Amino acid sequence: MALKKYAGYAWNLISLVGMILAVTATGLIIGFLSYEGITGVEKPYLGLMTYFLFPGMLIVGLILVPLGAYLVREKRRRHPEAEIHPFPTVDFNEPHKRHMFLFFVIASIIFVLIVSVASLKGYEFTESTTFCGELCHVVMEPEHVAWSNSPHAKVKCVECHVGPGAAWYVKAKISGMRQLYAVLFKTYPETIGTPIDNLRPARDTCEHCHWPEKFYAGRQKVFYHYAPNEENSPREINMLINIGGTPKSEHAKGIHWHIGQEVTYIATDRQRLNIPYIAVKEKDGTITEYMDSEKPLSKEEVAKSQKRVMDCLDCHNRPAHIYRAPGIEMDEAFAARRIDGSLPYLKKVAVEILTRPYAKKEEAKATIAKELPEYYAKNYPAVSKGKQKEIDHAVVVVQDIYNRNFFPSMKVSWNTYPNHIGHFYTPGCFRCHDGKHKTAAGKVISKDCNMCHTVLSQKQENIPAGKQVKEFVHPVDIGDELFKANCSDCHAAGGEDVPGGEQHAKH
Ligand code: HEC
Ligand code: HEC
Ligand code: HEC
Ligand code: HEC
Ligand code: HEC
Ligand code: HEC
Repeated sequence: MALKKYAGYAWNLISLVGMILAVTATGLIIGFLSYEGITGVEKPYLGLMTYFLFPGMLIVGLILVPLGAYLVREKRRRHPEAEIHPFPTVDFNEPHKRHMFLFFVIASIIFVLIVSVASLKGYEFTESTTFCGELCHVVMEPEHVAWSNSPHAKVKCVECHVGPGAAWYVKAKISGMRQLYAVLFKTYPETIGTPIDNLRPARDTCEHCHWPEKFYAGRQKVFYHYAPNEENSPREINMLINIGGTPKSEHAKGIHWHIGQEVTYIATDRQRLNIPYIAVKEKDGTITEYMDSEKPLSKEEVAKSQKRVMDCLDCHNRPAHIYRAPGIEMDEAFAARRIDGSLPYLKKVAVEILTRPYAKKEEAKATIAKELPEYYAKNYPAVSKGKQKEIDHAVVVVQDIYNRNFFPSMKVSWNTYPNHIGHFYTPGCFRCHDGKHKTAAGKVISKDCNMCHTVLSQKQENIPAGKQVKEFVHPVDIGDELFKANCSDCHAAGGEDVPGGEQHAKH
């Protein structure tokens, strides 16, 4: 048998198994890599096999081949009449040895090539959003879905969660192992908590792309709303947001002032919603201390509490995982004309259905598909007949809103994680700027409505058309509650079902 002679010592079961493993793995790696290259499809489990399982198989196979050969050779050497030297003799004048050597060199090159391509791709793969967001399908679903609808949808998970540099890569993969274990054995928390304890400091990650030192001027933003009335009347608040100047310059003014100055605070809860104490390091080095006048901390409590220096994430804590309230989602759907604004009470009815609790996505979807058409069939028979297509389409849009903002399997919904950027649904800026945080001398952290933004114009049912407003006009008269209460006291529910709303929304 020529093959047997050629294989020499490698003609044994261990080496044979090794060879089969190595050849199969090589075939599979090449096959799957070209499949991915040709189709452009990246599948999480396929990736896990192509980049980790098969290369592992290849390496084990390649270890088994010489191991088997070595064992056979050792066994034969121990035979008394065998004249085998302790080390192999390499004589290139023997054609067999020459061929073997050539084979060995070529095989090594191919092996090194395959393993390096696979490990390079493997590294890339562990950095990909497919890996982070889809492999642990159920667990990361809310974050992955919310991220893919955010302004950062083209920024990879790792650019915020790991950032540049090898040290953080290793750190992240170690904590990744723990998470993998948690997913496999279902020991992960029911709802992933924030803030994440070991998130890389924002200034290493965000500042990789955003450079606050270079920020300038303000930003105009229009907030679109639609009234919960029969006409779904459009409302618009056109504001200039005073983002502010270069924080490290002489003229550090405006919202980004907080990162030019050292602002330290104490939070008494994990989500950092309760902030009883704030300290500002002034330019001359003196410290100004503000205390919540309603729930002040004692000197000892201040001394022993953990303090945090404000950074980007104290305001921009949801740059990528943005969940939106049903009301806001409906507003956006109207504004983008994704949904027919002429369907009577559509906003009110849809928000009401969306804000009910559901145990499963399917249950919510079925309820939307049933109740929305039923509402029109019962209350507006003519609309129900004439606008059947529009109503059917509204069902799809409302189901999509549910899909993107509610994740019953992880007990996550739009209001699980407070967003600190404004002050509408959650206290946000008003955690400190509520008019109740004061220094001992009585200086207040301002709640002046014109400090952070200026109203440029506003459109609303209770504002006569064409009238120029300079101050925000609330759609229902709530008196000086507008200034005294926090907006979130009434608006946290996310719908129109707000205290005091009864007189207005009577349908
Ligand atoms: C633009 C930056 C950015 C990107 C991109 C990003 N994240 Fe996040 N992520 C954050 C921040 C900031 C937090 C909240 C941290 C905090 O509050 O302490 C967070 C929180 C999380 C949490 C904790 C639960 C939660 O919702 O707060 C998970 C899980 C998560 N991210 C996964 C992912 C995955 C998976 C991807 C990619 C599909 C991703 N992230 C992309 C910035 C980002
Ligand atoms: C890899 C680059 C990158 C990183 C890292 C990054 N961003 Fe961004 N960010 C962008 C880009 C690009 C946009 C612009 C998106 C657009 O306008 O379409 C953006 C937009 C934004 C916006 C404006 C969003 C809006 O509604 O207009 C904010 C705020 C922001 N990023 C904050 C952050 C914060 C906070 C972090 C750190 C947790 C961060 N970014 C990390 C690239 C990045
Ligand atoms: C005190 C709260 C606060 C802090 C701290 C903060 N920001 Fe902002 N930032 C804001 C607000 C408010 C806006 C305007 C948001 C809006 O209009 O939706 C904004 C706007 C931005 C924008 C969008 C600018 C534009 O013109 O659209 C970027 C990017 C941004 N911030 C990045 C950062 C980064 C990076 C950090 C940390 C170095 C940071 N911010 C720290 C509150 C803050
Ligand atoms: C942890 C507490 C805290 C939070 C949260 C906070 N601020 Fe402040 N902010 C302060 C303090 C303290 C000052 C300084 C008050 C003073 O010197 O009069 C300040 C000052 C300001 C100023 C005036 C800066 C200047 O030009 O002198 C603006 C504008 C501002 N904040 C906007 C915001 C916005 C917008 C948010 C929410 C996105 C926010 N702040 C959240 C503590 C906070
Ligand atoms: C400390 C800064 C700050 C103060 C003080 C402040 N706001 Fe705001 N406000 C913001 C920021 C930041 C946003 C933008 C949030 C965003 O981009 O989503 C905002 C958004 C708004 C909006 C639009 C909300 C929406 O979603 O339609 C209204 C209305 C508003 N503010 C009214 C007021 C009124 C009234 C007061 C005075 C009682 C006030 N604000 C005081 C920072 C402030
Ligand atoms: C005492 C309760 C209460 C407080 C406090 C309150 N609101 Fe309202 N708000 C309501 C009610 C009720 C409605 C619903 C009326 C409607 O939509 O016709 C409403 C509606 C709104 C709307 C229109 C929403 C939409 O989808 O059309 C905006 C914008 C608004 N409020 C802003 C604010 C801001 C900003 C603050 C804080 C400065 C605030 N509200 C404080 C009760 C309150």
